[in-house]
Amino acid sequence: MPAIEEALRRSGRDWNDLDAIAVAHGPGLAGSLLVGVNTAKALAFARGLPLVPVNHLAGHIYAGWLYDDFPSPEPRFPLLCLVVSGAHSDLILMTGHNRFRRVGRTRDDAAGEAFDKVARLLGLGYPGGPAVQRAAAAGRPDSIPFPRSSIPGSFDVSFSGLKTAMRRLVDSFPPGTAPVADLAASFQSAVADVLVTNTVRAAAELGVEEILVGGGVAANLELRRQLEARSPVPVRWPPIRWCTDNAAMIAAAGYFAYQDGARADVTLDADATLKLGIDRPEERDALGAH
Ligand SMILES: Nc1ncnc2c1ncn2[C@@H]1O[C@H](COP(=O)(O)OP(=O)(O)O)[C@@H](O)[C@H]1O
Ligand SMILES: [Mg+2]
Repeated sequence: MPAIEEALRRSGRDWNDLDAIAVAHGPGLAGSLLVGVNTAKALAFARGLPLVPVNHLAGHIYAGWLYDDFPSPEPRFPLLCLVVSGAHSDLILMTGHNRFRRVGRTRDDAAGEAFDKVARLLGLGYPGGPAVQRAAAAGRPDSIPFPRSSIPGSFDVSFSGLKTAMRRLVDSFPPGTAPVADLAASFQSAVADVLVTNTVRAAAELGVEEILVGGGVAANLELRRQLEARSPVPVRWPPIRWCTDNAAMIAAAGYFAYQDGARADVTLDADATLKLGIDRPEERDALGAH
């Protein structure tokens, strides 16, 4: 409640200005989802406001509608969304607002998870992404030829081979002598290369108008550099501060879901494994349009 009160205070709005309450009900850690869902349900009930269910991954995508230079032209459909976070590396095709179809994913680790694990191997801090990026700034990205894997016949990626190669390499150096900057730079470049190669191929084959990147790893500057250099279509990046988890992106997704009539009632529950863009009829029924 103090966080909500503070957000309202800073925005210069009060409870009477609100049209609806949006809440991320999944995917994620059950504990935090339960706190959020129950708070939102209680507020919606007490204030007589509609409750709008939002998928956390849709939130990362709609961070792309949070412009610093407002008004800006909106992203155009069909839109290919690369959602890269600590738990996901998904390619989601959007054919319109609230219309999501998952066309690719990771077969093992998420991109952010790979960054976090490799940061630990290299003795860098947590969260791993920013730590690896900082260490990489002093290294050569082409000094170590890490493996790049793709999954033939799909738009799926895999990072486990890359992570294992890193572990073997680090173990091959006497403790404290690994060339951390070169390892970080080469690893970061390989992760970006895998993601960009796959995304660019999907964009061409699916004939999309634009690419939009979201999730914590969208803050990575090497990923930005490689995708900008190789994409056949314009690329959208949310402002860096809206890439990692935040509430504004849930409000943005909630706005478009609300326009579309998405509503939940007090039976809304947290769903730690909620998917985006995969048909699960029982969920569609439970949530109306979603
Ligand atoms: N600059 C960066 N480069 C690479 N990865 C990053 C960067 N900033 C954050 N990350 C990664 O993003 C992930 C967090 O993503 P986020 O969407 O905020 O959380 P979650 O996965 O819990 O939804 C972490 O794995 C973190 O290492
Ligand atoms: Mg997230």
